[in-house]
Amino acid sequence: MASTCVVGLQWGDEAKGKIVDLLCDQHDAVVRYQGGANAGHTVVADGVTYKLSLMPTGILRQGIDCVIGNGVVIHPPALLEEVEALARQGIAIGDRLHVSDRAHVILPYHLAEERLTEESAIAADHLGTTRRGIGPCYRDKVGRVHGVRVGDLYHPDLFRERLDRIIAYKNRLLTAMLPDFEPFDGRAVADEYLGFAARLRPFACDTVTWLHQALGRGRRLLFEGAQGSLLDVDHGSYPYVTSSNSSAAGIAAGSGVPTRHIDRWIGVVKAYTTRVGGGPFPTEQDNEVGERIRRVGKEYGTVTGRPRRCGWFDAVAVRYAARVSGSTEIALMLLDVLSGLDEVRVAVAYEDDSGGSIPEMPGQLADLERCRPVYETLPGWPDDLTGARSWSDLPAAARDYVRFLSKQIGVPVSIVSVGPERRQTIVIDEGR
Ligand code: IMP
Repeated sequence: MASTCVVGLQWGDEAKGKIVDLLCDQHDAVVRYQGGANAGHTVVADGVTYKLSLMPTGILRQGIDCVIGNGVVIHPPALLEEVEALARQGIAIGDRLHVSDRAHVILPYHLAEERLTEESAIAADHLGTTRRGIGPCYRDKVGRVHGVRVGDLYHPDLFRERLDRIIAYKNRLLTAMLPDFEPFDGRAVADEYLGFAARLRPFACDTVTWLHQALGRGRRLLFEGAQGSLLDVDHGSYPYVTSSNSSAAGIAAGSGVPTRHIDRWIGVVKAYTTRVGGGPFPTEQDNEVGERIRRVGKEYGTVTGRPRRCGWFDAVAVRYAARVSGSTEIALMLLDVLSGLDEVRVAVAYEDDSGGSIPEMPGQLADLERCRPVYETLPGWPDDLTGARSWSDLPAAARDYVRFLSKQIGVPVSIVSVGPERRQTIVIDEGR
């Protein structure tokens, strides 16, 4: 066994792409198992910035296969656009991409449905989603009667017939709910999607079989989570979550590979916390500290460009997420962003308004909204960390901060990142 999982332990955007990119050399294939084009990975390699969304990060490395598993939801024009953008940047995909024929397809009415729930006054609550049709597509997947999978696109007659019926249903619903709604033309949508299907043909396959054959040949897989464990539909801050199992819990279901094949479990965290969209965020700093982190850390959404909400590291939330995702080591990202602060804070516990202790991350929204963080304050460091290349290059206060986080999470920090480049990475093995 030499397979690895890399998942975020916060609310997404933990810079997982950099860790996946670094570990590619030790693996043969990178596997996405959930989410869709709501994810955004930025990888900087040799001064070139690559923005990936649906595509597994391994695509940047020649010789690495990339799998988009059955648990992912695919918007074909978004995937094809990514394939073309990579080609323009000189990245050859060739026969390295494998897209599950069981993955569900995002259709235009999913985007309209999301507008309905996110924008219209009639919706009960807005979640602040990425508006990529993710939630409505997963809703149709579990609802079954309207689900469309990649494999369906290769049975054109059946697909046209079914899509006609689905679109008749969706048109009636959306016309009743959205005053300015232009009904979809079933035939035009089918033509468009069959065109996409033809272009995706070289990639579509049974990825479960592909992955098991790869394992049988001793290939090492790298499972790349999108979003973060606190956005997991079952284990996150529901309902302010994404619609998939974005913790490590999603791996087996979303790829068809049992997790007994994995022996390295990396949880990725930022040295602080960010969140995009709505939902509780106990350590949020809606003040100059938060603004400073946003400015220095360039905390704006890769997919939507929205400013991210920023705050202190929340050890209660990460401890919980590490448990759910089974993390046995932590990659600590963006430590350099905290340089220059007089002091840094870490939430080590929660309490309620009357000072009563809340020992664990609560499962209910109303309880989570009541949580007040109990902080430990540590000295900051003035030094620029971006040139540090080893543990001993870090100033003592930064080392103490890393050790403190490790202790609070209960999992050792094995990697510290001090900048976006591959070389701005410290691997911690001995001498701590
Ligand atoms: P959805 O995934 O578009 O349905 O959005 C649900 C929630 O997840 C919203 O709060 C989004 O901002 C958040 N979200 C989705 N994808 C990402 C991501 O890649 N990074 C951070 N937050 C995300």
